[in-house]
Amino acid sequence: MNIIKVTDYQEMSKTAAALVAEEMMNKKISVLGLATGGTPFGTYQQLIELVKAGEISFATTHTVNLDEYVGLANDHPDSYHQYMYENFFKHIDIPVEQTHLPNGDADNLQQECLRYESILEELGGVDLQLLGIGENGHIGFNEPGTSFDSKTHIVDLEDSTRKANARFFDKGEPVPAQAVTMGIQTIMNSKKIVLLASGIKKAEAIARLLQGEVSEACPATVLKRHPHLTLIADEAALSLA
Ligand code: GLP
Repeated sequence: MNIIKVTDYQEMSKTAAALVAEEMMNKKISVLGLATGGTPFGTYQQLIELVKAGEISFATTHTVNLDEYVGLANDHPDSYHQYMYENFFKHIDIPVEQTHLPNGDADNLQQECLRYESILEELGGVDLQLLGIGENGHIGFNEPGTSFDSKTHIVDLEDSTRKANARFFDKGEPVPAQAVTMGIQTIMNSKKIVLLASGIKKAEAIARLLQGEVSEACPATVLKRHPHLTLIADEAALSLA
């Protein structure tokens, strides 16, 4: 594992965007895996600046997102579809048909999981996957206890995860109880993984990743088995490690 220690969120975002940009310039990314939440937001802002400056282009890149809430239509303001569109896709030169997310509002969710896996296969896999980490060590929406062999699947969200994500929902609007997420094996199949962590709330999960044993009780620990993992974390996130 390559660990890059940075001072704060801003430096984490710049470092992550620079790393992605470098891989793109070297033509090593045709499929980029994306995450949502507060962590990658700054990275997307930095990447948008690089696109505007003409340094990188997403014209031929495909993106695949980790997850989506069950029951939210793609145009629901709190869906990850909208998060990605508002915070990233609408500002860059990517054709919309090259952006892929699971459809959490599909009539047949089991089939949707299979469809998503076959998209990943057709695209030839993910070249670089950006990841955040949940306070309980989840990656994507793979909660503690998820099998390391899992492919894209439907999950019941833990109350703590729903609480942590409530800040992205309008007041009083319930956070969905389920989500569709790439599985742990799906994530581990990525050629490279860049895990981002910022802030004291992530310190315990990062300490478990760095010091704990690899265990399904803390999904992120599986990343230690990945041959090309880069962790970009700030001082606060590394403060218990
Ligand atoms: C959500 C997402 C994850 C994300 C995690 C951390 O549950 N499904 O992909 O990594 O939360 O979110 P944040 O970056 O907002 O702390």
